[in-house]
Amino acid sequence: MIEFNKARRRFLIGSGSSLLLTLLPIPSFAEAPKAVCSKAGQKILLKGKNYICVKKSGKLHWELLTPAKPPITLHPTPSASPATTKSTSPSPEATHSTPPAPAPSVTSTPQKVSGFVAAKVSDLTEGKSKIVVAKDLKGKSVSLALFLSAGVVTAHSVVCTHQGCFVGEADKTLACPCHGSVFDGRTGAVLNGPARSPLQSYKVAEAGGDIYIQSEI
Ligand code: FES
Repeated sequence: MIEFNKARRRFLIGSGSSLLLTLLPIPSFAEAPKAVCSKAGQKILLKGKNYICVKKSGKLHWELLTPAKPPITLHPTPSASPATTKSTSPSPEATHSTPPAPAPSVTSTPQKVSGFVAAKVSDLTEGKSKIVVAKDLKGKSVSLALFLSAGVVTAHSVVCTHQGCFVGEADKTLACPCHGSVFDGRTGAVLNGPARSPLQSYKVAEAGGDIYIQSEI
């Protein structure tokens, strides 16, 4: 029995040692440089690998140099694509010549005429008297005797110079209904009494087809 226990102990010890050897990492001494590491920083090349001599804990030994990482290559910034490049050539639209600006039209400024408008020339009939009612510069309604002869307009008061009655148009003349006085429609002259004085005449101007009375009434 004692011999059996000794045999089992030797078996267990042997098995444990084998298991321990299996678990522990086995250093590889095959690739260790055989050169003498005598100075820190010393480098050697062995089988395509670089080693450096380092000093740790006061002892010099070789360490495998890890390959340096490839340098980072800075790619050049791509230039602007032709599509985004502005063309300096003129566009088809730009090649069209700009039409010249129209010359400012010469607008005839209507001549400023003093007075007030009594009527239009088109309202008159050549060779006939015409009595019209208009507004003077003060806004007051006034009656006027107009006459068109050979393109010239004349204007007279309708107040009879005899006693102040209003004359009426009678073809070429102006007739007073009160006492029968008759006046020339173009000149206002007395053609038949009892009136002795001609009708009061007014200064007339024409502009734009309008008849302006420029005398104060
Ligand atoms: S008022 Fe006109 S004729 Fe006498």
